Amino acid sequence: MQKLEQRFNIQYAFPVYFVRNIFNGEEQLLASLLLQAGEKRHKILCIVDSGVMDMDPALAGRIEDYAAANREVMQLCAPILTISGGEICKSQPAVIESIVRHIHTHHLCRQSFVLAIGGGAVQDGVGYAAAIAHRGVRLIRMPTTVLAQNDAGVGVKNGINAMGRKNFLGTFAPPFAVINDFSFLDTLPPRQQRAGIAEAVKVALIKDNSFFSYLEDQRHKLAAFERRPMEKMIHQCAALHMHHIGTQGDPFEFGSSRPLDFGHWSAHKLEEMTGSMLNHGEAVSVGMALDSLYSHHIGMIGEDDAQRIFTLLTDLGLPLYHPALALMDASTALHEFQEHLGGELTITLLTGIGSKKEVNRIDTDLMKRCIKELAHRFSGRNEVADHRPDRFAPHFSVLN
Ligand SMILES: NC(=O)c1ccc[n+]([C@@H]2O[C@H](COP(=O)([O-])OP(=O)(O)OC[C@H]3O[C@@H](n4cnc5c(N)ncnc54)[C@H](O)[C@@H]3O)[C@@H](O)[C@H]2O)c1
Ligand SMILES: [Zn+2]
Repeated sequence: MQKLEQRFNIQYAFPVYFVRNIFNGEEQLLASLLLQAGEKRHKILCIVDSGVMDMDPALAGRIEDYAAANREVMQLCAPILTISGGEICKSQPAVIESIVRHIHTHHLCRQSFVLAIGGGAVQDGVGYAAAIAHRGVRLIRMPTTVLAQNDAGVGVKNGINAMGRKNFLGTFAPPFAVINDFSFLDTLPPRQQRAGIAEAVKVALIKDNSFFSYLEDQRHKLAAFERRPMEKMIHQCAALHMHHIGTQGDPFEFGSSRPLDFGHWSAHKLEEMTGSMLNHGEAVSVGMALDSLYSHHIGMIGEDDAQRIFTLLTDLGLPLYHPALALMDASTALHEFQEHLGGELTITLLTGIGSKKEVNRIDTDLMKRCIKELAHRFSGRNEVADHRPDRFAPHFSVLN
């Protein structure tokens, strides 16, 4: 037998900026980023979420003016491409094909840039197209939702829905840079703003007790989406996510453990059962309430800590229960969660506010009792009520 062994390491690094009004003409961040990439006129394909463009049609003009004013470092190689925002862009192959076709038709190369302006779904879809064209065109992300700025947009994953399953196709592809422009949030509807706060509660619960206390202190201001606490929350949440991805030794998720997915096994199932009528952040809120109650009932956290979590979620206006939860088969949901990650079932539970433990076994009878208790305590409160149980037809499997 002969054997050769290949081995190499690659260092990845990308900056995440927090700014306002990136295209107002005075802000030079984008131009200087491009300059750092080389003293030449960089080709850029700019792709914008239709939800963003609908709320701010003048955005296209501001981007074009910015490009013209910085023509020595950037060139828009095609008219700005607007694609459907939300889950549609990840579900229709034609959207991804149109991005790949633009990259081909306008002769972008691996040194060119795709600029993605949009929510988490657009970031995922555009990121996927940019990653597969030429095996990777450089990507600058400009996330425009709270959830994309504090979670989805600052990580290393992309994905689209295929084979009837969510995020079935996708890659791990770190971006060139991320620019979180808070001014995009000015047009974001309240429901989307609130959904993003759920991910901040999640990361505080598993990693940072003092961040949880901050969210508690500021919860009424956050519920009213006051600018300063919202911006601080986004910054700290993004920092914690980035710290986790960068320091825990498994950025490309080769192992079975995904501690950042606290509350997510049932959240994924709820998104599926409601056909995404319950959005990701709302489903995560319900999932966190469930796993916090379970953590309490197996003696890992006290009643007072569980109550603090329920009060925070409630006061933020997030749901703690949804009727689809009563119809959920916990064993199947846990099995599907395990299947996507591969390996042994690994579920993150809490041992306190800001500390977690991974377990490999869940008592599904106790989990069912926890669901009943949540129904009893929180049914009707902050519930997302625009759909009935008879409409919980499976839509697609949700795997983030
Ligand atoms: N890659 C990852 O690591 C990761 C992590 C978490 C979630 N995700 C994905 O992110 C997606 C959810 O992202 P999301 O919560 O940002 O929602 P979203 O991208 O689905 O957007 C929600 C809605 O808001 C609109 N919108 C976006 N920005 C706006 C703005 N500034 N003003 C007005 N409307 C705006 C969109 O058009 C859409 O209709 C899911 O597909 C999920 O799978 C990915
Ligand atoms: Zn999430």
